[in-house]
Amino acid sequence: MQISSVRPVFFSPTGTSEAVVRAIADGVGVTVAEPVDLTRPEVRAQSLRTGPDELLVIGVPVYMGRIPELLGEWLAGLAADNTPAVCVAVYGNRAFEDSLIELRNAVAERGGAVVACAAYIGEHSFSDPALPTAQGRPDADDLAHAQSLGRKVRERLDAMAGVSAADMAAVPGDYPSPKPTKLWDVDFIAVDDGCVQCGLCAEVCPVGAIDPEDSARIDVEKCITCCACIKRCPQGARSVKPGPVMDARKRLNANFGEPKQPEWFF
Ligand SMILES: Cc1cc2nc3c(=O)[nH]c(=O)nc-3n(C[C@H](O)[C@H](O)[C@H](O)COP(=O)(O)O)c2cc1C
Repeated sequence: MQISSVRPVFFSPTGTSEAVVRAIADGVGVTVAEPVDLTRPEVRAQSLRTGPDELLVIGVPVYMGRIPELLGEWLAGLAADNTPAVCVAVYGNRAFEDSLIELRNAVAERGGAVVACAAYIGEHSFSDPALPTAQGRPDADDLAHAQSLGRKVRERLDAMAGVSAADMAAVPGDYPSPKPTKLWDVDFIAVDDGCVQCGLCAEVCPVGAIDPEDSARIDVEKCITCCACIKRCPQGARSVKPGPVMDARKRLNANFGEPKQPEWFF
């Protein structure tokens, strides 16, 4: 079957899922449609309708072995009318657990024909140069690998007469997942004197948890601990305080140093 375009869709507070999705989409070798960046709250407020002549490439980060809970509503409104789809979980070198099966099933339930799934490794949200976990991933090799997945999916589609929801890539994981999706409500961000109140942190926050007038005022109930504000602060003025996130950073650094490799599922 022929597709006329590929549609990149991602939620990506610290940019790793976006990089992987864009590389896969590039590799397909057809026109790349305007990306749908679900990191932006106003984009999540709009539903997406896709058709059978396009390929959907959707990637999200793994949060505690699940897909981020805040995507549930958007996924429930997706109308993927017999659209071939590639589902991608990007994880911080620990484990992707039930995230990929959850994403695959959500897309299939909305009409997508999930012809391929993949798990890629991204720098852990809690990583920093002093206590790194998967620092710098996806690297050049990961992105070349992701491009080759795009080419592979194109070849497979070319060889198929058409797709249906029965074309569902087999992936590991439990569905429904017994794991909780509730994230920590934790006051974990320190803001130092380097902050110039430029407001960028409030802009990049996917959930509007930071006061644009006072970047040190953070709504811990809204905050999803994604660390976008810390990693994107141009002054490097935001850091992780001692507490559960710092403890997780240390644990990850101690236990998940061995680099994992991307996996494909058809
Ligand atoms: C709240 C939270 C939970 C996470 N849980 C996991 C996990 O269970 N397994 C894992 O390997 N990485 C986990 N990560 C790391 C992210 O999946 C990883 O860093 C990903 O590359 C971030 O994607 P992004 O750059 O698109 O935001 C977690 C990150 C956060 C913020």
